[in-house]
Amino acid sequence: MNDNLTILIGKAIAASRNAYVPYSNYRVGAALLSKDGDVYTGCNVENSAYPAGICAERTAIVKAVSEGVKDFKTIVVATKNGGSPCGICRQVMSEFALDMRVVMVNFEGNIVLDTTVDELLPHSFGKEKLDIVE
Ligand code: THU
Repeated sequence: MNDNLTILIGKAIAASRNAYVPYSNYRVGAALLSKDGDVYTGCNVENSAYPAGICAERTAIVKAVSEGVKDFKTIVVATKNGGSPCGICRQVMSEFALDMRVVMVNFEGNIVLDTTVDELLPHSFGKEKLDIVE
């Protein structure tokens, strides 16, 4: 395991402590590494109107994009049991980085799965289908 990953795992676990989860009590933390080497963290933030809640992964991605950063290398997702990113998060990840590494860990820091967005979301729908040139 390289040092980057050790640091990201620590940051993802730390971020999970800020999770606002009065409804599920399921804490999720994420640490997103940009290609520039910066780290954006996120946690899940639930809401009494359940669909208004947001996942940890999208919190981190939206924080980065809102600061002008869209190129990502790795995201570490920490939960008590190595939970996997939901379908909406997989789609949002695919918008920016199909080749991004996705590492799921538990709160002991053990890697449960080390994969990529492309593997998590095969045959994905992407912007190339929309004939839009950025
Ligand atoms: N959750 C995440 O934060 N990330 C995922 O990819 C899976 C689910 C959150 C949403 C909700 O706050 C809680 O976990 C239970 O579903």
